[in-house]
Amino acid sequence: MAERVLVAVAWPYVNGPPHLGHIAGNVLPADIFARYNRLAGNDVLMVSGSDMHGTPTMLAARREGISPRELAERYHRVFAETNERMGFSFDLYTHTDTENHHAVTQGMFKRLLENDYLVEGVQSMPYCLVEQRFLSDRFVEGVCPHCGFDGARGDQCDNCGNTVDPSELGNIRCKEDGSTPEFRDTTHFFLRLSAFQDRLTEWISAQKQWRPNVRNFSLGMLREGLKDRAITRDIDWGVAVPVDGYDDKRIYVWFEAVIGYLSASIEWAQRSGNPDAWKAWWEEKDARAFYFQGKDNIPFHTIVWPAMLMGHGDLNLPHDVPANEFLTLEGRPLSTSSGWAVWLPDYLERYDPDPLRYYLTVIMPETSDSDFTWDGFLQANNNELVATFGNLVHRVLTLTTRNFDNAVPEPGEMGPEETAALEACDTALSAVAGHLERRNFRDGLRAVMALAQHGNRYVDARAPWVQVKEDRAAAATTLWTALNIAETLRTVSYPYLPHSAQRLHELLGHEGDVLSSGWQRREPTPGTTLPSPSPMFKKLEESIVEEEAERLSAASAR
Ligand code: MF3
Ligand code: ZN
Repeated sequence: MAERVLVAVAWPYVNGPPHLGHIAGNVLPADIFARYNRLAGNDVLMVSGSDMHGTPTMLAARREGISPRELAERYHRVFAETNERMGFSFDLYTHTDTENHHAVTQGMFKRLLENDYLVEGVQSMPYCLVEQRFLSDRFVEGVCPHCGFDGARGDQCDNCGNTVDPSELGNIRCKEDGSTPEFRDTTHFFLRLSAFQDRLTEWISAQKQWRPNVRNFSLGMLREGLKDRAITRDIDWGVAVPVDGYDDKRIYVWFEAVIGYLSASIEWAQRSGNPDAWKAWWEEKDARAFYFQGKDNIPFHTIVWPAMLMGHGDLNLPHDVPANEFLTLEGRPLSTSSGWAVWLPDYLERYDPDPLRYYLTVIMPETSDSDFTWDGFLQANNNELVATFGNLVHRVLTLTTRNFDNAVPEPGEMGPEETAALEACDTALSAVAGHLERRNFRDGLRAVMALAQHGNRYVDARAPWVQVKEDRAAAATTLWTALNIAETLRTVSYPYLPHSAQRLHELLGHEGDVLSSGWQRREPTPGTTLPSPSPMFKKLEESIVEEEAERLSAASAR
């Protein structure tokens, strides 16, 4: 039976163009998961958008001397276009500066206020005497009270992932001018997280399907005890607070960005012509929601957002929050500000999307941090995609079209090796499905490649190029069997390598989209006309490793 699957992807800050870190952590696994579920016949809704607000955008805009809106709109366009080119199959990729998002956010705010989960309170906040203004979130930095890292920001520590309060920071200073701020009282709304302490503990303890790192981190936060958190700020960029007297304050970016999952689902429904369509994923009890994140976002998706959903009532809680660890680049952390990054628009000018999707899955930081190297990218492309997957398909299609009149041949009698090859197809289908259902993306891809390896071994052993000269019927059987493997490779590789899978679909003589073929083994029909084959993947020159190293050091030296 078709299941409803909400694929909710973290909303990137649009303070610069997208880079490798943005996709390895969440968009890529989310897309693989969404594509698998669609092909398996489930009803998928995949949404995200650009996180336009918050101090990251404000800081970047100040640096360029433009408005936050102008900066955010510029990079939102780049993110949206990159998603298309990478083949990320969002049902909707929107942003948080839409009228709809502002309205849905204010609706949630009012509902929580009515339900007594928001209260007003006075807070002592850092105030910059040089700039004469309150310093929210990233406008201050200092020493983390949890781990001692000197560079924690006013809302979160990037080193240990804990949320922090500016009053807890040691050696606090203004990010812009380095001055020591004075603490002054200011009035804000607080989300009464403490009211959810017991419900959250009970709920999270029962989420055995979560990765251990996600569950343990969240339970650890609960053991420390949840504190009420301010959800408004003394800034002028963001969603307005729907209460009198708050004209010069805005809703905290994290409080409103997580509402994006809901507002985007509503926007998608409105655009689809059925304004209630979103409810199937949010209100029906058997629908499941998956929130794909980097590890720094865990507390907002396992504590804050579930508390908001509980406080609102009648909306589904996350089923899973598959959070990845971090990706490094040639041994160093990726960084937008220092230029140590591979920018996706640049990448796409030089290479195809699928080799990157492939390599980033091979090294996906599922259980520990992992490192992207250009040499690793080259080897993965040349030794695995080209030499294993592409080579099998190309050999089989070339031998078939040349010797059997550009059509799928009629198989003869099947021997034990043919039976084993067909079994390998069924094994791959169930293994890849099993891994993807458990959100184990690397293992799933290994099972895809294991089928390609089986195919190569089978073809080598049968040597159809010899068989065609000595026993045409046997050659026909071999190639038909190998075409089964190619058909199955098309299916199991589709979540990972959608562009290549579509090419393969067409090379196998099919029309339309891979999606129409379902998650099952399709036997090739004898007589099907095959187009003239061309290689699926391009071999890359060794020299790219050095070229890219130079490009990186030039960009980071700037
Ligand atoms: N903008 C945040 C970041 O880039 C992520 C927000 S995820 C959301 O770290 F769901 F809360 F929007
Ligand atoms: Zn810390």
